[in-house]
Amino acid sequence: MKISGKTQVYGILGYPVKHSLSPVFQNASFEYFSVDAVYVPFEVEPKNFNTAFLGLKALGVKGVNITLPFKERALELCDLLDEHAKQIGAVNTVKFENQIEGYNTDWIGFLKALKDLEGDIKNKKVLVLGAGGTSKAVFYALSKEGCYVYVWNRTVQKALELAERFSLHVVSNPEDVLDDVDIIVNTTSVGLSERDPHLFDYEKIRENHTVFDVIYKRTPLLEKALEKGAKAQDGLIMLLYQGIESFRIWTNMEVPLSVVKESLSSYILN
Ligand code: ATR
Repeated sequence: MKISGKTQVYGILGYPVKHSLSPVFQNASFEYFSVDAVYVPFEVEPKNFNTAFLGLKALGVKGVNITLPFKERALELCDLLDEHAKQIGAVNTVKFENQIEGYNTDWIGFLKALKDLEGDIKNKKVLVLGAGGTSKAVFYALSKEGCYVYVWNRTVQKALELAERFSLHVVSNPEDVLDDVDIIVNTTSVGLSERDPHLFDYEKIRENHTVFDVIYKRTPLLEKALEKGAKAQDGLIMLLYQGIESFRIWTNMEVPLSVVKESLSSYILN
């Protein structure tokens, strides 16, 4: 990569952000189209978020992704919002034009990754585990597809708060609806660490379930699903599709999934 006086700057804002794979595949996307641009990580302490975010526009940065814990705060600072970001209540993609434009591509990433695994999901029954920040894009995508969505969350109040907005059916025990659902989606952070508890008895997963985990690795939930012969997918493809969509918003160009996947091959194997 050659940096010139004309090189355009893109990036990702988060805290922490050092682990992010976005710089790897977004730079590969710019290289693929020979665009004179660079994508860099910006790790910003929460107390500095507003200054940093507005400073990006002043610096002439063209666009950024927004990750944890800033997706809601970014929404507040945008001048214009796309309909999806508004309904989800979070912005993960920003384009700096005369005005600051906020978008959400997480829901598209989720939907495309799930459809690659499951095919058409119209009218399917889905159990979503978790009602935190990540879950909202998932609920939005599923309700757009007309799915029947059950939600379970450790703190039931948070599930109840989202229930009306996304037409969810709150359950107090995931096992109560396992036999009724086609798809199980984990949006909690459970499974990141080996010491984490199980969210229900994973032995009860059936071969005809499809199990999707937003975490980017093979969690105990996914391991058990595969062992049972179920279809299973981690969150990496979702991340790649959301990034492809962000790139399209910034450049009007669509990178093939194979290109971004290939750029991560050494990271995925590690
Ligand atoms: P994110 O933005 O990544 O979704 P979050 O908003 O803090 O982060 O949400 C984390 C999710 O993981 C929540 O659904 C949380 O449940 P609570 O709402 O009850 O906190 C869930 N979670 C985290 N640790 C958990 C555990 N040990 N058991 C069950 N759920 C857990």
